[in-house]
Amino acid sequence: MSTLLHIDSSVSPGSASRAVAGQFAAAWADSHPGGSIIHRDLSITQPPHLSWDAVSASMTPDEARTAEQAAAWQTREELIGELEAADNLVVSVPMYNWSITSTLKAWIDGVIVVGRTVSMTGGPGILTGKPVTVITARGGAYGPGTPQEGKDYQEPYLRHIFGALGATDISFIHVELTRAAVNPAMADLVPLATQSREAAEKAALARAAA
Ligand SMILES: Cc1cc2nc3c(=O)[nH]c(=O)nc-3n(C[C@H](O)[C@H](O)[C@H](O)COP(=O)(O)O)c2cc1C
Repeated sequence: MSTLLHIDSSVSPGSASRAVAGQFAAAWADSHPGGSIIHRDLSITQPPHLSWDAVSASMTPDEARTAEQAAAWQTREELIGELEAADNLVVSVPMYNWSITSTLKAWIDGVIVVGRTVSMTGGPGILTGKPVTVITARGGAYGPGTPQEGKDYQEPYLRHIFGALGATDISFIHVELTRAAVNPAMADLVPLATQSREAAEKAALARAAA
């Protein structure tokens, strides 16, 4: 049975990245009858920032952990367990300050355990053989020739992280210019924003059904 791990991270109720990831998940469910979806909303259940207990627990055998280390490790195990259970991953990510949400960064810090989820010697990682789809939303546009070109610190970072976790099939789908609808200074960009959203929805549906 297939399992999709669906992670959202926007704090916005009208989130574009969340909406497109929702469409992805619905299309994935249609094309995987009997499959199951694990939905983790990082804006609701926020992973804790790393503590020393959480870090040192990864270097301490189970039986030698303090109660604090054991509790911190349990939280990391829960996140890692969802990655283990999944054979497909979709992550929605708003662009905040040129990068990702702090909750997604906390999730990344929770699931990266060298020797367990990431290999430093060229071996497989926890996402090896699992497709990863990242759906981003940004207020501006970051493609070639735009004034913001080169300032996208989301895609290169996440591409590296999911690669470190062993994924090789990583696809990014961007919803750009979302601020055009609400910022009068961007009014002339509304048609491009609409185009970007429609292209993202189409790409998400195609990728989910693949
Ligand atoms: C705290 C914050 C920081 C933001 N920083 C950026 C930014 O650096 N670049 C950008 O293009 N848009 C930025 N935006 C706009 C969001 O990327 C945009 O609203 C996007 O649609 C958010 O994703 P969502 O619709 O899935 O919530 C920011 C918005 C917020 C709330």
